[in-house]
Amino acid sequence: MQAIDKIISDAQAAFEAAPTVAELEQAKARFLGKSGALTELLKGLGKLPPEEKPKAGAAINEAKVRVEGLLQARRDAILAAELEERLAAEAVDVTLPGRAQSRGGLHPISRAQERIERLFASMGFSVADGPEIENDFYNFTALRMFPDHPSRSMQDTFYVADSDKVLRTHTSPVQIRYMQSHQPPIRIICPGRVYRVDHDATHSPMFHQIEGLWIDEGVSLADLKGTVAQFLRAFFERDDIEIRFRPSYFPFVEPGVEIDMAWSRKDGEVGYLEIGGAGVVHPDVLRNGNIDPAKYSGFAFGMGLDRLAMLKYGVNDLRLFFDNDLKFLRQFR
Ligand code: DAH
Repeated sequence: MQAIDKIISDAQAAFEAAPTVAELEQAKARFLGKSGALTELLKGLGKLPPEEKPKAGAAINEAKVRVEGLLQARRDAILAAELEERLAAEAVDVTLPGRAQSRGGLHPISRAQERIERLFASMGFSVADGPEIENDFYNFTALRMFPDHPSRSMQDTFYVADSDKVLRTHTSPVQIRYMQSHQPPIRIICPGRVYRVDHDATHSPMFHQIEGLWIDEGVSLADLKGTVAQFLRAFFERDDIEIRFRPSYFPFVEPGVEIDMAWSRKDGEVGYLEIGGAGVVHPDVLRNGNIDPAKYSGFAFGMGLDRLAMLKYGVNDLRLFFDNDLKFLRQFR
């Protein structure tokens, strides 16, 4: 029965050499499978003389039990080793210091926007919204910015190819949309993103404006001035803020003004900074919003939200707001 002993030791060596359960199963087939070494021996029993059969059969079966035992032992050993390895890899070191949750904060533009919304809410304004992908009518025509208006030129406006859509160049289209679905009294602000083909320290292709609209019976330029002055004093927390209206032209207002804010320059002189445009809403614009200009009047303004945030937080480069450098943004947490 030397052959049997050799099979057993071969099997043991093959099982030991198998590093994984899958390879162990392959090794098993070589000894216990359909044409495995032990199976072949069993098949050979028939050729033996009858008196030798029982002994040989018993020996082979015994060998089979041995090999199966070796196989099971090796399988257990592999699984135990694998488990050990996994436990070691996934071990949690409870003595490590905890990882701090880093606390997020509002972006300075969002922060300024929330502050502005709060201040205007206290003056009775609600917040209105409009699409950033606007169509030509609302962005331009309804505001009397006719096809030859410079802001429509390819250098200024992002057009959406093969459509009448543009990325809105200002928040003023919200005026029309809001008037079309509401009758006076109307008192809204509309903060939001606007887009122009422009890029330097004080211009970004995407920036923010805040539109304002107040329509009712007898609303005048004086109300505009009072509202803007009160807002700016509250926003900058200074009672001595002076504002100046400079005559200007915007097609959707008549008269139109540029709003300047006075500030003390480093050299002690007083400088003026432009913070937005405004005016008394043009009768045709009211008509485009389905509002009767014989009965109602009002004012509108559009201010640069980023500009207000720069002044409020002392930021001298607009691009800092949009570079997403955490060293900058963390200062506003
Ligand atoms: N939409 C103008 C711009 O982006 C700003 C503006 C001027 C808005 C006068 C107004 C306004 O509501 O009355 O340049």
